[in-house]
Amino acid sequence: MIVTVEPFANLTASGKEALYKTLREEFDRVCELKLKLNMARGKPGKEQLDLVSDILTVLTDPADCVSDGLDVRNYGELSGLPAAKVMFADILGCKPENCFIGGSASLQLMYDLIAKAYTHGLKNSPRPWSQEPKVKWLCPAPGYDRHFGVSGSFGMEMIPVPMGPEGPDMDLIEELVKDPAVKGVWCVPKYSNPQGIVYSEQTVARFAALKPAAPDFALMWDNAYCVHEVFGDYLPFPDILSLCAEAGNPDMVYEFASTSKITFPGAGISVLATSEANQAYLQSLLKFQIISYDKVNQLRHVRFLRNKAHTIEVMKMHAGVLAPKFSCVLETLKREIGPLGLATWEEPKGGYFISVNTLPGLARRTLELCKQAGVTMTGAGATYPYGKDPADSNIRIAPSYPALEELRQAIEIFCLCLKLAALEKEI
Ligand SMILES: Cc1ncc(COP(=O)(O)O)c(C=O)c1O
Repeated sequence: MIVTVEPFANLTASGKEALYKTLREEFDRVCELKLKLNMARGKPGKEQLDLVSDILTVLTDPADCVSDGLDVRNYGELSGLPAAKVMFADILGCKPENCFIGGSASLQLMYDLIAKAYTHGLKNSPRPWSQEPKVKWLCPAPGYDRHFGVSGSFGMEMIPVPMGPEGPDMDLIEELVKDPAVKGVWCVPKYSNPQGIVYSEQTVARFAALKPAAPDFALMWDNAYCVHEVFGDYLPFPDILSLCAEAGNPDMVYEFASTSKITFPGAGISVLATSEANQAYLQSLLKFQIISYDKVNQLRHVRFLRNKAHTIEVMKMHAGVLAPKFSCVLETLKREIGPLGLATWEEPKGGYFISVNTLPGLARRTLELCKQAGVTMTGAGATYPYGKDPADSNIRIAPSYPALEELRQAIEIFCLCLKLAALEKEI
């Protein structure tokens, strides 16, 4: 379907016009098909959900609803089922005592922590953040749009920090945390959203050893993709809690994870891992908010996932579905866009996204054209604080949700739109 073209620079003005006309005709034909394709959000596809649907039947007998002597059908254990803490501690490499097991969304735990910082303050806060003249927040970018959404909704001043191949620019972060108004940072340390970057050991060690001026600086360590390899074997990753404790920062870090992309998004379980002192403080506030989370679902997850080793086996089944989808996107980009030099992209080994950087000024227009052609993508700018990508360049592709054939069509249309957007500037 896609017409492969020479690098635009090699074309004469009339050559460019002729090519534009051919591609535009192709585009018009695609529009007439009235397609409805979606590469916007990182949702598992149906095949993945089917693979893990035995979780629906792991708990059917009332006699099975007891764990560690607790009847999970009843109130109790605000901090979660002990067996669920053991399981997450195994996965994250921390201690069960560090784990608070929440409801179906880690994002809610993150939001709630920030909300508590504003209303009551964190354990080491001199005062609630709502009483601070200004709260500033570090936002490695491109990053996860919903993180920036949380910061934005509280009126924080968001400071973008560039991402490199080993994670955020640590020289800049070490400098910025000298400002006492800087209260925290968003991190997705393994297979970052959207680039799929894995922070290097040195980056992780520098985060753990930060010396922020704010005594209540929050290292928001969103380990959403901790076991989410797409290509290759499980990649071991350092435990940030023990590194922070060793560096004299035991209360600085809040680590989050969930089973959203292990079992069912929106119907899984989540974890907040932090120091025992932070746990005691936070639970003294949380106890007014909820009596206990859904322990029936916690037990279902413990029975289904069992431990880290078995969770990694489950993730291999997901990878079996995801790898061909990631490959399809990467191969199409390489074939259609690579020779033209219109964009660069990462080749992630895990996570849920492929991040494309077009030549400056092409992202918004490319996505407009995609929309007209029936392909929904994450909005341009979404991966930057305030939704403003200064170079209008970054585009997040989520290959997981469409079936492989639909995905193939969608990424080919994306490439067509990118070429058109580039040619529009040339003629
Ligand atoms: C980095 C990151 N954190 C958190 C989430 C949401 O996780 P949950 O479903 O546990 O709220 C996502 C979902 O895309 C994500 O990419």
